[in-house]
Amino acid sequence: MTKQSIYDQLKRPMRDLRLSVTDRCNFRCTYCMPKEIFGDDYAFMPKSELLSFEEMVRLASLFASLGVKKIRLTGGEPLMRRNLPELVGQLMHIEGIEDIGLTTNGMLLKTYAKDLYSAGLRRLNVSLDALDPEVFGKINGRGIKPEYILKNIDFAREIGFEIKMNMVVQKGVNDQEIIPMARYFKDRGITLRFIEFMDVGNDNGWSFEKVVTKKEIYEMLKDAFELEPVDPHYFGEVAKLYRYSDNDAQVGFITSVSESFCSTCTRARLSSEGKFYSCLFASNGFDFKKMLRDGASDDELREKICQLWDRRSDRYSDERTEWTARNKKKIGMSYIGG
Ligand code: GTP
Ligand code: 5AD
Ligand code: SF4
Ligand code: SF4
Repeated sequence: MTKQSIYDQLKRPMRDLRLSVTDRCNFRCTYCMPKEIFGDDYAFMPKSELLSFEEMVRLASLFASLGVKKIRLTGGEPLMRRNLPELVGQLMHIEGIEDIGLTTNGMLLKTYAKDLYSAGLRRLNVSLDALDPEVFGKINGRGIKPEYILKNIDFAREIGFEIKMNMVVQKGVNDQEIIPMARYFKDRGITLRFIEFMDVGNDNGWSFEKVVTKKEIYEMLKDAFELEPVDPHYFGEVAKLYRYSDNDAQVGFITSVSESFCSTCTRARLSSEGKFYSCLFASNGFDFKKMLRDGASDDELREKICQLWDRRSDRYSDERTEWTARNKKKIGMSYIGG
């Protein structure tokens, strides 16, 4: 297949595909799937509406033929999707795909880590917002203990996975956990990224006041550790990274609010029901599942991808205001997977 690169209105190439494989999750994080909204009677997507593995692989191959080199599997919680290692195995074989990662809450790693590794997956980003059981239990909405996730991380590391940690920081909720988390993962040589709380979806209670900015976190860290900046590993890397001066571990910041990174955003997103989104904060997506199930040819699908990327001009984080945060209709984080 001939490979080409496509560029959007802001001259950004398409390089990454974030593939959501389910809208379900075994957690109810307050900032993502608050349990008051995602209760027992919440209508998740029926199985027939989800893209099959075959459909995902077909689309991913077409995205790869247009410049995508990296796939990230997300959810909801991607390990809730049945037979996920099988999908990993199939995606690994797509020509042009150089890297596959998985973003998970870590709860099901004990069950699936071995099979994922055997299928070829090497990189895991695990979310953990606190080491204090009470704080973490409240944030995840299910009383899950951090020890459980930490054990699973050790287990996955022993198998051979490269692991990065994500911590969403909210003022007055878990900012007191910044230094303990930094120390814990520094000692283990694991990169921890602090994520600024974002206004994703329409019901996560976001306001500027609840954001702890990179600058604030950096000031705290500087009092406890000596840090040196690290050059980005690749164009468009989301995290800004630093190295501790006395060991190899790195620590980073994902600064969607205080220092947006839209100018280098090379990410296309597909929801688990096959809708394409050109931004995490988009309102509407294009329905590839319909096209697939109506019998579209590869050329037709490829042409559609080109057209969607060509029209893309999103830069939501550059333009965010209190008004857009409150009033813009946005897809939910659990639906699109971050
Ligand atoms: P690697 O760099 O490949 O390890 O992956 P990643 O950091 O892009 O993936 P991950 O799923 O761990 O994302 C970390 C955080 O960055 C999550 O909170 C995402 O929602 C956020 N993020 C990722 N891409 C974007 C983006 O394009 N825009 C914004 N605003 N946030 C993003
Ligand atoms: N703000 C910032 N990060 C978020 N995540 C989920 N919701 C939010 C939010 N509102 C993070 C998760 C996970 C990644 C996919 O996105 O914690 O690490
Ligand atoms: Fe689930 Fe991740 Fe959302 Fe938490 S942030 S509810 S773990 S999808
Ligand atoms: Fe990309 Fe939209 Fe995030 Fe900006 S806000 S970095 S355009 S996904």
